[in-house]
Amino acid sequence: PLQPVILSGGSGTRLWPLSREAYPKQFLPLTSAHTMLQETVRRLNGLDAEHPRAAIGQLAPLVVCNEAHRFLVAEQLRVIGQPPAAIILEPLGRNTAPALTLAALAATQTDDDPILLVMPADHTIRDETGFRAAVADATLLARAGAVVTFGIVPSKPETGYGYIRQGAPYSIAGVNGAAYQLANFVEKPAVEVAESYLASGDYLWNSGIFVLRASLWLRLIARFRADIANACASACAAAQRDGEFLRLATELFAVCPSDSIDYAVMEHLAAGAAADLPPAVVIPLAVGWSDVGAWSALWEVREQDAAGNVVDGDAFLHDAHDNLVIAQHRMVAAIGVHDLIVVETPDAVLVTTKDSAQDVKAVTQFLQREQ
Ligand code: GDD
Ligand code: MG
Repeated sequence: PLQPVILSGGSGTRLWPLSREAYPKQFLPLTSAHTMLQETVRRLNGLDAEHPRAAIGQLAPLVVCNEAHRFLVAEQLRVIGQPPAAIILEPLGRNTAPALTLAALAATQTDDDPILLVMPADHTIRDETGFRAAVADATLLARAGAVVTFGIVPSKPETGYGYIRQGAPYSIAGVNGAAYQLANFVEKPAVEVAESYLASGDYLWNSGIFVLRASLWLRLIARFRADIANACASACAAAQRDGEFLRLATELFAVCPSDSIDYAVMEHLAAGAAADLPPAVVIPLAVGWSDVGAWSALWEVREQDAAGNVVDGDAFLHDAHDNLVIAQHRMVAAIGVHDLIVVETPDAVLVTTKDSAQDVKAVTQFLQREQ
C-alpha cells in the first residue's frame, strides 16, 4: 500500500508574527479555511478512485513532528475526520533524514514494505487533481524500484531549494505522465550556481516531495549515513506507544546526527552513479506548487482583488495596490501604499515590503537572543 508520511517539524520563522515556535506555519490556515497540515492530508483524498491502475490501497498518514506539537496535530486531523496511523514524536529536531528514517522504521513494523509518499506539511498545491495524477505515476515507478522526486519549473535563482537536472525520458508500463532520469541533484547551491542552472533551462527545483519504498529508504540511509540509521533504529526500538503517539526517548534520539533527506541521500543519486544504486526519477509538476516560504509567497498564492491586494480581517485600503494585509485584532488602514506586507496580531505587528519578506527571520533571531 501507499503510506503517506507527513514531515511536520519545521518552524516557519519567516512567517512571524503569525508563525511562532509554539504554533508554526503548518498549523495555520494560511491558504484556505483549513490549516496547511489539514490541506496536506486532504489533498490525497480520491487518489485510488481517480487512478485505479495505480490503486494499491492507501494507509492513514504517519505524521512526524516535535513533541510540543502533538496535540495540535492530533486535534487538527481529528477535526477533518482523518486520524493518522501514528504521530511520531521527536523530543528535538534532527532535520528530515532522521524524521523519514523513523517513519520508514515504523511503517515496516506495521506493513511488509509500503511505498512511502513523503510530504512536507507546509506546502500548497493549487491543482490537486494534477498532483494526484503525478502521485499515481510515482507510485508505479516506486513499486518498480525507483526513487521518485517531483520537479518544479524554476522562476528565480532561489538558493533555499534543491536543483534537479532533468535527464533522458524514463518510462515504464502504465505511467501516463512524463518522467525523466534524475541526472544530478544539488541542494541549496550558491547564488551564482543557481543562476547558471536557471539560465541553462535544464534544471528543476526539488519540490521536497518524494516517493520510494520504505525498505529502499532504509537501505539508502544505512549506506550513506549509517550513523543516522543506527541512532534511529535504537530510538525506534525503545519507543513507547501511547495511544496514537509514538514517543522516542530523548537520550536515544539526541545522539542522532542532524541532516536533511536532500544532503544525506538525494545528492548521491545522480544517474550513472554506483551500479548498486536504484534508478532516480523526476516527474515535472505543473500544479501551482508553493512552499509558502515567506509573506511574499503567500501574497502570490492567495487570490488577489482587482487592485492586487490580499486582505484578511478588518482592513480599509485606499489608493493602495498589491499589498498583503492581515488584521487579526484591530482594524488596519493602508493608504497610498503598494507592495507592502502588514500583519497585525494581538501582541505584535509586522510591516515590511514584499522585497524584504525573506529577512523577517531576523526578527525571530532577535527575539531568541532577548530571551
Ligand atoms: N519531523 C520533522 N523533523 N520535520 C521536519 C524537521 C525535523 O527535524 N525539519 C524540517 N521538517 C519538515 C518541515 O516542517 C517541512 O515540512 C519539511 O520537513 C522540509 O523541511 P524544510 O526545513 O522546510 O526544508 P527546506 O525548505 O530547507 O528544503 C527542502 O524543501 C525545498 C522545497 O520547499 C528540500 O527538500 C529542498 O531540496 C526543496 O527544494
Ligand atoms: Mg521548506
